[in-house]
Amino acid sequence: MANTRTILPLPMEDTLRPAPSPPMLRAVGVDKRFPGGVEALAGAALEVPTGETLALVGESGSGKTTLLRTFNRTVEPDSGEVSVDGRPVAESDPVELRRRIGYVPQNGGLIPHWTVGDNVELVPRLRRWPAKRRRRRAAEMLDLVGLDPAEFRNRYPRLLSGGQRQRVALARALAGEPPVVLLDEPFGALDALTRLRVRDVFKRIQSTIALTVLLVTHDLDEALDLADRVAVMKEGRVLQRAAPAELLGQPAHPYVEELLALRRGRR
Ligand SMILES: Nc1ncnc2c1ncn2[C@@H]1O[C@H](COP(=O)(O)OP(=O)(O)OP(=O)(O)O)[C@@H](O)[C@H]1O
Ligand SMILES: [Mg+2]
Repeated sequence: MANTRTILPLPMEDTLRPAPSPPMLRAVGVDKRFPGGVEALAGAALEVPTGETLALVGESGSGKTTLLRTFNRTVEPDSGEVSVDGRPVAESDPVELRRRIGYVPQNGGLIPHWTVGDNVELVPRLRRWPAKRRRRRAAEMLDLVGLDPAEFRNRYPRLLSGGQRQRVALARALAGEPPVVLLDEPFGALDALTRLRVRDVFKRIQSTIALTVLLVTHDLDEALDLADRVAVMKEGRVLQRAAPAELLGQPAHPYVEELLALRRGRR
């Protein structure tokens, strides 16, 4: 029999060019009104390309936490589109999403009646890693955030300082080897020195692991130091998203100028 397979001609460049990958995190036109009438998000839009760190800054109540939480479906928007790695989250199973996305909630969110070790092993356990691998990974992560696993593994969160709790939360977010992490003020309760140390740890993580990071911080200096891009939020909207140098050189909104002026005033 003759060969009936049709060979479609393909332009050469199309076969050579890699398919553009979607941004790891994408939100477009997202609205959210909480019961009681608070409009937390009003047309918020944000993109975090794969492998980049984006810092989200803005004053208290501007909607940072709400926007971050739409990505793992701990907040459901009223309208708009939210996707992770090209897939709308509305079509993803929330449990599966949370297994794939590391998350440090604003208060750390440790499970109080679990030990530090069990908290850090949460996602590896959900992913059914064998006990030995889970334990090894938890120890590595605790080491990474500067907590001696032998000393801290069996402690309960209430027996830790606020800064130690935050570091355990960071270790937990990274333990399941997620491709993307959502960090909501993960360094907020740290003293200045520990903060700088954990920042260095964070930079090391960024340079060694292929990780996409959405980092909420109210510290503009921290944002400019750690992020590939900074997004400024106000009243439920992202006003500008730009690389640090661009934000500093070309503020695109009077509010962004105001923020930068405040920062200059403090220095
Ligand atoms: N579950 C909720 N129910 C009602 N209102 C809420 C809820 N969560 C947040 N809000 C309101 O939505 C607005 C945005 O809150 P959000 O937590 O996103 O702010 P934020 O930018 O993270 O602030 P902060 O810097 O203080 O953490 C605020 O006015 C807040 O009071
Ligand atoms: Mg918040």
